[in-house]
Amino acid sequence: MRLQEKVAVITGGASGLGRRTAEYFVREKGAKVVVFDLNDEAGAALVAQLGEANALYQLVDVTDEAAVAAGVQAGVERFGRIDVCVNCAGIPTPMKILDKDARASNCGEFLRTVLVNLVGAFQVMAHCIAQMAGNAPENGEERGVVINVASIAAFEGQIGTTGYSSSKAGVVGLSLPAARELAAIGVRVNSIAPGLFNTPMAQFLSPKAIESLLAAVEFPKRFGDMAEFASLCAYLCENAYLNGECIRLDAAARVRAR
Ligand SMILES: NC(=O)c1ccc[n+]([C@@H]2O[C@H](COP(=O)([O-])OP(=O)(O)OC[C@H]3O[C@@H](n4cnc5c(N)ncnc54)[C@H](O)[C@@H]3O)[C@@H](O)[C@H]2O)c1
Repeated sequence: MRLQEKVAVITGGASGLGRRTAEYFVREKGAKVVVFDLNDEAGAALVAQLGEANALYQLVDVTDEAAVAAGVQAGVERFGRIDVCVNCAGIPTPMKILDKDARASNCGEFLRTVLVNLVGAFQVMAHCIAQMAGNAPENGEERGVVINVASIAAFEGQIGTTGYSSSKAGVVGLSLPAARELAAIGVRVNSIAPGLFNTPMAQFLSPKAIESLLAAVEFPKRFGDMAEFASLCAYLCENAYLNGECIRLDAAARVRAR
């Protein structure tokens, strides 16, 4: 799918990887973006930077289905259609199964992580796809593209990441059954599993955790550049034969247990 004049919903688009993707889609590809996030100030700053003709910010908690439906509707009202959905909204939530007194930990943190990272992605994807189904197919083939952001933690979760890692494994698990179901309407679904990127989320990590994570990176031995993530999102839109797949973007990193 060519991105010129297409409309992309990007969740978590006021910060980090989502924000960089919004900038890349508008500036490099001539797309319009509808950004869902919880940060009004950062959302307004992004719209000011990209221009109201190209970007719309909506205060949408991805766990709130009514807000998701209203946000998608607002995007359609502003730009007339939805072609792409990039689910970047996510929370890290470190947690252990047993607390420091060896008691079963409270499930609340686990539930919240799965709700935001997995249920949120499903919900936004579903509401965007309902709009994509009404698009005329491009080149007689495609009506839409979905990209869900997982993590290499889906495959090599470290100690203390049961909620995060299992939520991201769920995101990886969405791709194939969704791609199979949506083949009938010409919508592709892929996921990206990023390695280590220096975003506001990574700033929660201790220097020791960063050192251990960077040690697992092979080549190039550095944080990923957010533009490398954004350009992969664009490529996943542009290459019509990529479907039902999860792509690791991690410089061959395989993280250890701790
Ligand atoms: N940074 C990394 O190294 C890394 C690695 C692997 C995966 N990821 C994944 O990439 C995605 C983007 O992460 P990032 O590093 O850019 O983080 P970030 O913290 O910079 O951005 C995440 C954004 O999601 C928003 N968000 C959180 N909960 C939300 C909710 N309920 N509804 C709407 N928006 C919500 C936040 O407000 C924030 O703006 C996340 O899903 C993260 O798990 C990041």
